This record gives sequence, C-alpha cells and structure tokens, in this order.
Amino acid sequence: MVTFEKVTVSFGEHVALNEVTLSLPQGRTIALIGPSGCGKSTLLRLLLFLISPTRGRVRVADRDVNQGNAIEIRRRIGYVVQDGGLFPHMTVRDNVLLMARYLGYSEETNQARLAWLCELTKFPEGALARYPVQLSGGQRQRVSLMRALILDPELLLLDEPLAALDPIVRANLQQELRAIFQRLQRTVVLVTHDMAEAAYFGDRIVLLESGRVVQVGTFQALWESPAEPFVSDFLAAQRTLSFL
Ligand SMILES: Nc1ncnc2c1ncn2[C@@H]1O[C@H](COP(=O)(O)OP(=O)(O)OP(=O)(O)O)[C@@H](O)[C@H]1O
Ligand SMILES: [Mg+2]
Repeated sequence: MVTFEKVTVSFGEHVALNEVTLSLPQGRTIALIGPSGCGKSTLLRLLLFLISPTRGRVRVADRDVNQGNAIEIRRRIGYVVQDGGLFPHMTVRDNVLLMARYLGYSEETNQARLAWLCELTKFPEGALARYPVQLSGGQRQRVSLMRALILDPELLLLDEPLAALDPIVRANLQQELRAIFQRLQRTVVLVTHDMAEAAYFGDRIVLLESGRVVQVGTFQALWESPAEPFVSDFLAAQRTLSFL
C-alpha cells in the first residue's frame, strides 16, 4: 500500500530522515514509534506531499506521490494530525463535513455518512452543533477521526491520536479504535510514543531512531530478537512495559 524507497528528507543541515526504505502492507495496522524528533510525523507528511523527499521515492497504492497527483492522493488518505487540528470556529458537523461539502456531495449523503460515523466512533449526535472547545479531549479525538474518515479513505494516518488523554479515557479509546480498525479493514498507520500502545495496535511495529529505521517486526520480535542495542534500551525505558 505504501512504500518508501531510500527516502531522505533534509531541512537545511538537519537530516530528518536518512535513506528510509520501508513497505507497509494493505489492510493492516502499522505502529510507528521512536523518540521525539526521530522523524515519525515527517514520514506521514511525506505520504500527503506536505513535504517532498530530498532524495528517494514515496509511493501510495503503486503511484509515485508528487506535485501533480498530491491532491488526488490526499483525498484517498484520512489524516488525524498531531494535536487534532480541528477548526475552532466551526461546529463539529462543519468540521467533519468540510471536505465532503467542498467536493459537492449531496447534503443527504453527507448527513447519512455523518450519522454512520457517529455510530462508529460513539460520538453523540446531539453534540454535532457544538464547537471543539465545548468537547472533552476524548470527544475531540472522535471528531478528528470522523473528519479523517468522511471520504472513506483507503489509508488512515493517525499522529499520536491518544497522547493528550488521561489513562482511563485513553484505555477506552484504544479498545474502541482497535475495534474500528478491525471493522474498517483499511491500512492504518498510527504514530505513538508508547510501546504498549504500539504492541496493542500494530500488526507490525516500525521503530525509528534519528531518522532511520532500526527494526520492523512484531512486538515479540523486537523483544526477543532486538536488531541492535538501541531496541532493548528503548524497550527498557518504556514505563508502560514495567509489568513484563
Ligand atoms: N519544517 C521543518 N523545518 C525544519 N526542521 C523540521 C521541520 N519539520 C521537522 N523538522 C525536524 O525534523 C525532525 C523530525 O521531526 P518530526 O516532526 O518528524 O519528529 P517526530 O518523530 O514526529 O517527533 P515527536 O514525537 O516529537 O512528534 C525534528 O528534529 C524536527 O525538529
Ligand atoms: Mg510528531
């Protein structure tokens, strides 16, 4: 579904991604994990052509992502940005339907899709007329997810969707999100700082460090056969794994 071939991204002197080669299979959930600044958000932003690779190729569904097709490819991708990114001056309904209205879908289709998304994400339909500031953090994440799903994307990118939530809300939303991913059967790339969360969601975990891929595999593979000392050090530093 997604391939990165020797992708390097430089911001001036700083190399954010260094010759990343990676392929992500269709219909699976992939967790991207690594320390702050290792390049996780940069990888997602490449798929949307929000930034372009300095070197190398990025492909989505067998097509090179480039200036010419970026808009078309973006419409096939749902994106929950780090920090949610809802428009504060728009109601929930208007936030979620923004792209569908822009593309001229009928209001009847839109309202039916919205009702279905409320059911899927367990967002109360009675709160659709509220503004983001009038919602709890967990509800705002549900709205971000509804907005990402409005065009029925083949690929869903979530950048630390649960990072700002308290532990109980977070645990509940983790369960619900996993059920949603199973129901949708789409390719999902989820960024997290938390290895327990990565293991919970990811059929496959991609561990990054300083702009390079250190290891790709299941949690068990990372745990039992670390590719290099960094993998064990990273696992040892994770407080959420202290029960192991
Ligand atoms: N537009 C930009 N201009 C300059 N440097 C950038 C830009 N975007 C990202 N960087 C740098 O590239 C590196 C990777 O950034 P990125 O946002 O991908 O990290 P991340 O892994 O998502 O981190 P976090 O976990 O904190 O969100 C960081 O050092 C960041 O400062
Ligand atoms: Mg980030």
